[in-house]
Amino acid sequence: MKSVHSIAELTSSLRTPPRVFVPTMGALHEGHGELIRVARTIAGAEGQVIVSIFVNPLQFGPTEDFNKYPRTQDDDKKLAAQYGADLVWFPEAAELLSPEMTKLESPSFGDTLEGEQRPGHFTGVLTIVNRLFEIVSPSHAIFGVKDLQQLILIREMSAARFPNLEVVPVETVRTDSGLAMSSRNKYLSEPEIKLASQINKALNVAALQPDPVSSFYEKLSAAGITADQIDYVEIVPMPLSCIDLGNRRLVVAVRVGSTRLLDNIALN
Ligand code: PAJ
Repeated sequence: MKSVHSIAELTSSLRTPPRVFVPTMGALHEGHGELIRVARTIAGAEGQVIVSIFVNPLQFGPTEDFNKYPRTQDDDKKLAAQYGADLVWFPEAAELLSPEMTKLESPSFGDTLEGEQRPGHFTGVLTIVNRLFEIVSPSHAIFGVKDLQQLILIREMSAARFPNLEVVPVETVRTDSGLAMSSRNKYLSEPEIKLASQINKALNVAALQPDPVSSFYEKLSAAGITADQIDYVEIVPMPLSCIDLGNRRLVVAVRVGSTRLLDNIALN
């Protein structure tokens, strides 16, 4: 596996499609590993799997954890190689964030849920993903269902701007206790991990109830997570572009300690 930094080094290392792209912010865990594994399967022996690792300042608010976000380059290279990446790209901020780059605005759906909690977040995500797509020019790009709203917005952006690019979703990878893996889980203490594991348990129960939203609040409250720790619980109808993820999903954001955790589940 090769690693590159500059755009020139990257583009001279790109091969003919299938070219399967996995954009990340690093601090890679088995969830990212699964995305890379799926990418490898799609690429086959002849195709190329490219992983980018860039902590994107455009998607962090002024009071968020940009500076403290975990940066683990050496471990990331090992994990990417282990799951089958051919090329890891560490873009340099000065070059990637050029003043001439196209700045995208997110549609109104990007101002709800995560976007309401984190104003400007999805504008930053869409702008960087568009920039990465323009440079890598992938045939396929892989994204996790854990970040459901991001996946929906990227699929819609991609359909409009990169009609030949297939955005492939990968189901959420979890620890044995059900906690959705996340780079931010590194911030959790042992007792907080136990508490955070209740989120998925509550989702599984709530999804089977006639009123999933109230049921989710009740389950979490019984587990010791109070309503003021829950940023949102919403039933989100899937747009046509994401109908492969079910008709509707229950989408939640919960704060445990100072860490915000996202999860979602399909509803019947
Ligand atoms: P990051 O949080 O590093 O996530 C990179 C990709 O991994 C995203 O598609 C995310 O949904 C997926 N992922 C994270 N945890 C997962 C899990 N437990 N199971 C399956 N997939 C998981 O999302 C971003 O980075 C950034 O916003 C990015 C798209 C790279 C733009 O900066």
